[in-house]
Amino acid sequence: MQHVDGFSSTRRIIGLCTGKACGNERADTLFTYCAARIEAANLSEELMVTRMDCRGKCDAGPVMHVYPDNVIYSGLTKEMIDRIVEEHLKNEKIVADYAMSMDKISNRFIPFFGNIHFFGKQLRMTLRNCGVIDPEAIDEYLSVNGYEAAAQALASEDPEMIIEKVKSAGLKGRGGGGFLTAQKWSFAAKQDADEKFLICNADEGDPGAFMDRSTIEGDPHTIIEGMIIAGYAIGATKGFIYTRVEYPLAIKRLEMAIKSAREYGFLGKNIFGTGWDFDVEVRLGAGAFVCGEETALIKSIEGYRGEPKPRPPFPTDRGLWNKPTVINNVETFANVPVALLDGESWFNSIGTPQSKGTKVFALAGAVRHTGLIEVPMGTTLHEVIYTVGGGIPENKKFKAVQIGGPAGGCLPESFLETPVDYDSLKQAGAMMGSGGMIVMDESTCMVDVARFFLEFMAEESCGQCTPCRAGTTIMLEILDSITKGKATMSDLDKLEEIAKVTANASLCGLGKGAPNPVLSTLSHFRHEYEEHIVNKRCSAGVCKSLTSYIIDREKCVGCTACARVCPVKCIVGAKKMPHEIINEICVKCGSCYDICKFNAVQKDVGPFEKENKTWRTVKQKMTA
Ligand SMILES: Cc1cc2nc3c(=O)[nH]c(=O)nc-3n(C[C@H](O)[C@H](O)[C@H](O)COP(=O)(O)O)c2cc1C
Ligand code: SF4
Ligand code: SF4
Ligand code: SF4
Ligand code: FES
Repeated sequence: MQHVDGFSSTRRIIGLCTGKACGNERADTLFTYCAARIEAANLSEELMVTRMDCRGKCDAGPVMHVYPDNVIYSGLTKEMIDRIVEEHLKNEKIVADYAMSMDKISNRFIPFFGNIHFFGKQLRMTLRNCGVIDPEAIDEYLSVNGYEAAAQALASEDPEMIIEKVKSAGLKGRGGGGFLTAQKWSFAAKQDADEKFLICNADEGDPGAFMDRSTIEGDPHTIIEGMIIAGYAIGATKGFIYTRVEYPLAIKRLEMAIKSAREYGFLGKNIFGTGWDFDVEVRLGAGAFVCGEETALIKSIEGYRGEPKPRPPFPTDRGLWNKPTVINNVETFANVPVALLDGESWFNSIGTPQSKGTKVFALAGAVRHTGLIEVPMGTTLHEVIYTVGGGIPENKKFKAVQIGGPAGGCLPESFLETPVDYDSLKQAGAMMGSGGMIVMDESTCMVDVARFFLEFMAEESCGQCTPCRAGTTIMLEILDSITKGKATMSDLDKLEEIAKVTANASLCGLGKGAPNPVLSTLSHFRHEYEEHIVNKRCSAGVCKSLTSYIIDREKCVGCTACARVCPVKCIVGAKKMPHEIINEICVKCGSCYDICKFNAVQKDVGPFEKENKTWRTVKQKMTA
């Protein structure tokens, strides 16, 4: 770790991502290896090697970023590091073979950061320091104006003015609902209480989401700084960061950052000489999705089972231990120092009239570039998927984008020009949520997608209210029967009715949001439900009960590869002769389909056609 003073003699900074998504153990080994190689090459005087977490290209990790050249090397190995040290770092020649060529659309080689499509459309405000500074060194955070916004805010000695600035910036909570941050703070600030609390919601229970974890891992001091400003604005005495035990690196970095902030006098007694005392503590949850709901989270910190309770009273009136409490998301806190330091009018100028600033998304599924992205509010879904994400691989057709986490919605192609902002997404039948975005191609079955998310919600329901507990269970049963081809059209009506009742009658956001994947797929992909029910057909070939595998005897060369991988040994045939599948034994695992190099194994999603296809029943086999 190098002190900021050391920058003057530094010719290059080599940032190696050691984030979890990059495979941190392997990346850690490479970090040590790289430092050793640089030392062995007598370059350690002029080159600084540092941990810089999450460049957002986790799918191509481990990743190295060389400054000021702005070259990103991906998929690192020790051998690659040897060559990079020798050619680039020693002899000033970029190793073009290893540098990221992200623009797969035009297939141009562009080694520079800003020109890479994946990064070009992005605006990293929340993630501004992630991958740029060493998250374990408070001095590096200070070197990028860290804690300056807090110092200025506290120097003003006017909590009302801070809230006014956050209001002018137009910052809305990034935890899902998009509630105005300044409004929430002012509710708590107005309360007359001997004690007030602040909570950072870092629970992040959405499956596949890692926005908050990466922000903490890459820049933990920003969260603490945002909390100091919020704590001062509302008059809090204590702050808690609630996260889950499955995030060990984030926890470690938070603990380190809190300790350093205390040592520097940013936390503890008489902060910045204002006479105000404030400290922050990390609290761990066991990882139940419902614990992210604010009233459940409060109960969990209090030491009880994390079950939501009716609101009002809202936490800003009576929250943690019945004291006024503000709960904000990680990303919300990370934006506070930017909004204040870079100016509320600048912050307000980014985004749409109702949604200001940027939003971080965990982009996943059927896109070329998956990973953590951050775009200005108002960027269209099309731009996110095709420009940042690089489009759909393997020349497949786009089918839907699921946005907003498990309580979000699925939008079809006709909605691709929808801007990502709170209102537009809601109007389209999805929601911003905390930032999950899953792209789906033509090989996705939308009934199966709805079933997947509902299954998650049913499992995560705390069960205390009947509409949620029973509603999610019954909806799941109906969806199951649809995917098995056993449902009727009246079941479909029942599904829709229960979805609406569950959304209306449930106590908390989990039950209220659980029917969203069902309702949005029913609204945009109703024909797929009808196809399953009426034609007993899953045209995507996903629902096992409605799909068979058959072998095209014209294409089969009898290589036996499929028979060797079949787990139930139901593929028969002599070497160099067309093979056959005994359908009754087949467990529809798809291994034969995946392994056949000759496209001879096909998914049969409609009425079975015998011509040139080999598929047998056991009876046929016995009598053959
Ligand atoms: C079931 C459920 C889970 C939630 N999980 C999270 C979460 O993991 N992180 C989060 O910040 N907000 C989560 N929320 C929203 C929080 O209850 C709360 O609105 C949010 O933390 C407020 O922060 P913000 O104003 O900065 O958006 C969840 C809500 C529900 C209903
Ligand atoms: S809606 Fe569901 S998760 Fe929320 S309190 Fe009721 S049962 Fe629990
Ligand atoms: S892997 Fe394909 S080509 Fe080979 S035997 Fe099986 S179906 Fe035929
Ligand atoms: S789908 Fe699986 S079980 Fe069925 S024939 Fe192919 S490999 Fe065997
Ligand atoms: S964790 Fe390394 S690039 Fe995302």
